[in-house]
Amino acid sequence: DKAGHKHFMAKEIAEQPTVIGEAVRHYLTQDGTGVKLPGADLDFTKVDRLTMVACGTAFYACLTAKYWFEQLAGIPVEVDIASEFRYREPPISKGTVALFVSQSGETADTLAALRYCEGKADKILSVVNVAESSIARESDIALPILAGTEIGVASTKAFTCQLTVLLMLALKAAQDRGAIKATKCTDLLSKLRALPSVLNETLDCESQLEDTARKLAEAKDILFLGRGLMYPLALEGALKLKEISYIHAEAYASGELKHGPIALIDKHVPVVVLAPKDALFEKSISNMQEVMARNGKVLLITDKPGAKEGGDGVWQTVVLPEIDPVLSPILYAIPAQLLAYHTAVAKGTDVDQPRNLAKSVTVE
Ligand code: F6R
Repeated sequence: DKAGHKHFMAKEIAEQPTVIGEAVRHYLTQDGTGVKLPGADLDFTKVDRLTMVACGTAFYACLTAKYWFEQLAGIPVEVDIASEFRYREPPISKGTVALFVSQSGETADTLAALRYCEGKADKILSVVNVAESSIARESDIALPILAGTEIGVASTKAFTCQLTVLLMLALKAAQDRGAIKATKCTDLLSKLRALPSVLNETLDCESQLEDTARKLAEAKDILFLGRGLMYPLALEGALKLKEISYIHAEAYASGELKHGPIALIDKHVPVVVLAPKDALFEKSISNMQEVMARNGKVLLITDKPGAKEGGDGVWQTVVLPEIDPVLSPILYAIPAQLLAYHTAVAKGTDVDQPRNLAKSVTVE
């Protein structure tokens, strides 16, 4: 049932405020000042290292979470693609918690990576959507993301629910370790509670993106740039676009631009720049100007202050609500998804069942 939407993907994008709200409520303590893990006993005080492993979009959720665990909780984090991790046979030191992220809970490489960690890691955690999956069953602790069934092959609501749960887990780790001030933690948790209404407001940018997507549909190559928390999101935006519109898209950390990819820039290559007005904004804007100086067409996705300061001379600007930088990946995922969706619709591809892809990759 597509609930009045043209595609399951559109329905699942629109559901995000609701399902994220449910995930936040599930992990929030009654008084709203802490994080609880219902039915699980976990203390991050003695954790020396977190090793996160996943594939595809779930891998990008892990890359995002690395910033949170390191910056909020001070835990060193390693993130790897499951198919690389499992065959590299990396040493797992004592004090390591291994964390596997998977929507389906059945991805063959992720499951194999989990089994490799059995008996080596102190604890095996998973963040899954399908609660009765193999990965959930074989973990010491399985944390559900509560996104509900995801039918569109391209992951949308599962990604943002993974981010939400990972952020809350990072906040719990920060509290366990005394790495965050109580007021700061309560503030972030209350912003998480308010997130559904900000996400609803964000979904209103759809008409802006629809027009832009029609123009993007003519491109052969598209670049995505981001810094900090926006870098993994740039990767996710490029993946989403490739998967459903079949347009070649690449993402780079903005600072890497001049180390090679800048050679690709000309007037035919749209460059999507994800840059809320955060601490790294000036840097992102100076990278963006390097693109424009070479006739690159920039699509800037930012907030009001960002548009005011950096919007001069750009090809298109999409303006989103302002948000605490810590929560920005969850919000900026929405325009990335909508851009891919409307580009695919403009191209007339099979959005829910893109060619060559399967929802659950149970063979390696
Ligand atoms: C992208 C996508 C895939 C999955 C990947 C892992 O839109 O859906 O990249 O994220 O195949 O799948 P799970 O999360 O089921 O392990």
